[in-house]
Amino acid sequence: MASVSGIVTTTSFCILFFISCLLSASSEPLERPPIVDGLSWNFYLTNCPRLERTVTSHLQKVFKQDSGQAPALLRIFFHDCFVQGCDGSILLDGSPNEKDQAANIGIRPEALQTIEDLRSLVHKQCGRVVSCADLVVLAARDAVSLLGGPKFAVPLGRKDGLTFSINGTRNLPPPSFRTGKLLDTFAARNFSATDVVALSGAHTFGRAHCSTFFNRINQTGTPIDPFLAKNLSKTCPTSQSSNTAVLDVRTPNVFDNKYYVNLANSQGLFTSDQDLFSDSRTKGIVNSFASDQKVFFDSFADAVVKLSQLDVLTGKQGQIRAKCSVANTKKEGLVVTSVVEEDMDLRGHI
Ligand code: HEM
Ligand SMILES: *[C@@H]1O[C@H](CO)[C@@H](O)[C@H](O)[C@H]1NC(C)=O
Ligand SMILES: *[C@@H]1O[C@H](CO)[C@@H](O)[C@H](O)[C@H]1NC(C)=O
Ligand SMILES: *[C@@H]1O[C@H](CO)[C@@H](O)[C@H](O)[C@H]1NC(C)=O
Ligand SMILES: *[C@@H]1O[C@H](CO)[C@@H](O)[C@H](O)[C@H]1NC(C)=O
Repeated sequence: MASVSGIVTTTSFCILFFISCLLSASSEPLERPPIVDGLSWNFYLTNCPRLERTVTSHLQKVFKQDSGQAPALLRIFFHDCFVQGCDGSILLDGSPNEKDQAANIGIRPEALQTIEDLRSLVHKQCGRVVSCADLVVLAARDAVSLLGGPKFAVPLGRKDGLTFSINGTRNLPPPSFRTGKLLDTFAARNFSATDVVALSGAHTFGRAHCSTFFNRINQTGTPIDPFLAKNLSKTCPTSQSSNTAVLDVRTPNVFDNKYYVNLANSQGLFTSDQDLFSDSRTKGIVNSFASDQKVFFDSFADAVVKLSQLDVLTGKQGQIRAKCSVANTKKEGLVVTSVVEEDMDLRGHI
């Protein structure tokens, strides 16, 4: 008897062990930054196993039509996470609301719609089990890899917040910041100088409006390539012009390390970018990323995983929104704001 139950126990242990080994081997890379309680590398494994494939294949189609949505989605992720944590607060409607604040200038509405489209697709497939906050993170991760950047895993399991923060948008660093203030702003959230230089490398694609860099055109503070200044001055007849310039003059639509090569040539668009090459605390890091793309990609992936865990809501905190732009009125269940939303919610539970 003892040996039989011994065999049974050993067998079931082996099966459990084998499955857990398979699971972690398939989705957990060898060395990743630590993750906070409540998040995991395979959070939706049982209740939405095709989540990541669905998101990636939809975004492939979106970026084929409009590659500008990739940088737009990466920026939405940063602005969500840095204000009240990665809680989807930037997606919420309201008057006033978070997304319309000055620091969120240029947030692209079509990219916000893409997050909602992803939610709709995923909820049709799996029910209302995936949060908008997680979709923001997944979309940003895919925006990077689909435009040439690193592929990496992100931990999932965030819940959506019930509120947004208008004041919190003041914590977003302005483009006029020099390196000292930039490092302070990020250090307050436990980001190192390497993290800051790597995250700034997000400006390797996308665009900026005249008002955000106009002060740099004829300034003497941080160096600017005179050819770039001349071009920008043509693009921007006044600071209030609605025109835009590309963030990366070399490869504006690719996620690569050319941003750092630009900085070494005084072709950074913002003061916050260019000063990284003047400040002794960051110049060496810029050089290391400019000369080795893999070093940049690895640091970028680590910093994004860190950013994606700022003040997250997990477990019983928060909710899973039935629509990314509106908080559900009751925390635990039925959406009662409208008949349409109630229908969606019920479908989620079938
Ligand atoms: C380090 C401090 C940062 C400052 C001062 C800053 C500032 C800005 C500003 C002013 C714009 C132009 C928006 C517009 O006019 O439309 C912009 C664009 C952008 N930012 Fe940043 N940013 C910073 C960090 C980050 C981080 C950490 C990320 C993501 C990881 C990011 C991703 C982007 C992207 C991808 C764009 C282009 C958006 C588009 O094309 O729609 N930025 N940033
Ligand atoms: C936002 O900040 C302003 C100025 O710092 C303050 O007067 C106001 O009470 C704050 N509002 C909220 C909702 O915290
Ligand atoms: C700060 O970051 C370091 C290095 O990434 C990490 O080991 C540490 O746990 C973090 N501390 C907090 C309070 O988040
Ligand atoms: C910058 O300076 C140049 C040369 O002095 C001038 O032609 C140009 O209009 C100035 N641009 C801005 C935006 O002030
Ligand atoms: C300035 O514009 C010209 C003409 O579009 C372009 O060939 C050149 O690469 C630009 N230079 C910089 C530094 O932006």
